[in-house]
Amino acid sequence: MNGIIFILISFIFFFLAYKYKTNTSKPKTFGSEKLEKLGKEYLQKLSKKYSKQSEKTEKKQEPQIQKPRKKISFTIIYGTQSGTSRRLSKDLCKESIETYHYNCKIKNASKIKSIEEFNNNSLIVFIFSTYGNGVPTDDSIEFTNMIENNEFWEKLTNKNLKYCIFGCGDSNYSKFNAQAKRLDKIFSKYFQSIMPLTLGDDSNNLEDNFDKWMIQFFDEIPKYFN
Ligand SMILES: Cc1cc2nc3c(=O)[nH]c(=O)nc-3n(C[C@H](O)[C@H](O)[C@H](O)COP(=O)(O)O)c2cc1C
Repeated sequence: MNGIIFILISFIFFFLAYKYKTNTSKPKTFGSEKLEKLGKEYLQKLSKKYSKQSEKTEKKQEPQIQKPRKKISFTIIYGTQSGTSRRLSKDLCKESIETYHYNCKIKNASKIKSIEEFNNNSLIVFIFSTYGNGVPTDDSIEFTNMIENNEFWEKLTNKNLKYCIFGCGDSNYSKFNAQAKRLDKIFSKYFQSIMPLTLGDDSNNLEDNFDKWMIQFFDEIPKYFN
């Protein structure tokens, strides 16, 4: 009798143990399904959020492409006898404003009377022609005398000014582009040049060389000012 009771109790014990095991394993399966479902929902939410965000950034970027580049201001100073340097200055300024949306001013050398032009600018482009036997053009004699005087530079406060020079000359003259070389010698003491001194030659495609120089000029500007 005791044996039968023992077998019965053992059977009940094993039955309950088996039930417990299946009951506890069920929620696990259910939990993992739920987890999987939640994961899928989360991924869907994420992908929706991401696509909305990318739509937003795409929308934001559109006007940026059309936006003009950063406003960069500079002055072109020229010295001319028969108008070449003035014409090239105007071409450069037109291109700067219309294509690149830069702020550009043109000034004849005869209008520069003080250091202020150098103190109030971050970039100056010099386009100067040579005349006589390597002398400055009539409109730039006073300017040249002024900058050759050391006292002029004592009032210089702007040490960050950048510059570049395009010279107009003719290699048939012994003092080829003497004025552009003279200016470069002076300015290189005080300022950093964004391009090497370029000497245009009336006997050798001056205009074409200026166009190439201009392309290089627009390539250099963002490296220094953007
Ligand atoms: C009378 C005269 C003198 C010149 N002297 C020089 C000179 O010494 N060195 C030089 O490189 N070019 C000289 N040139 C060439 C001019 O600088 C060149 O033609 C230049 O492009 C003219 O520029 P502009 O029209 O802006 O004055 C001279 C030209 C003339 C007509």
